[in-house]
Amino acid sequence: MIGRLNHVAIAVPDLDAASAQYANTLGAKVGLAKDEPDHGVTVVFIELPNTKIELLFPLGEDSPIQNFLDKNPSGGIHHMCYEVDDILAARDQLQVQGARVLGSGEPKIGAHGKPVLFLHPKDFNGCLIELEQV
Ligand code: CO
Repeated sequence: MIGRLNHVAIAVPDLDAASAQYANTLGAKVGLAKDEPDHGVTVVFIELPNTKIELLFPLGEDSPIQNFLDKNPSGGIHHMCYEVDDILAARDQLQVQGARVLGSGEPKIGAHGKPVLFLHPKDFNGCLIELEQV
């Protein structure tokens, strides 16, 4: 069902500092910060040869990232994003097997303009999983 690793998302306490560290210390190709009000985050994408890193910073009052940063003040891995061909078929198959889909269960448009869903971390070894239809 799942295909390529699309990105690993890291919640960061200081977006400018984290972006500068990836650009200058790690020598990566770092994009510009983009607000995603529907998801309550500001994101910076970093292009690696085989995948991407998504830096996440809270945006707005009830950002889903704020709680995570309160528990992990120095930041941490927030989710992994796997690619799927058909997000609705993947969702239905996962739900039949007992996996919980977060929110309404309907895909939202994610940071790349493509449909995404999130799966409950307690069903996947403590790892929040994002599925993106490509
Ligand atoms: Co993501």
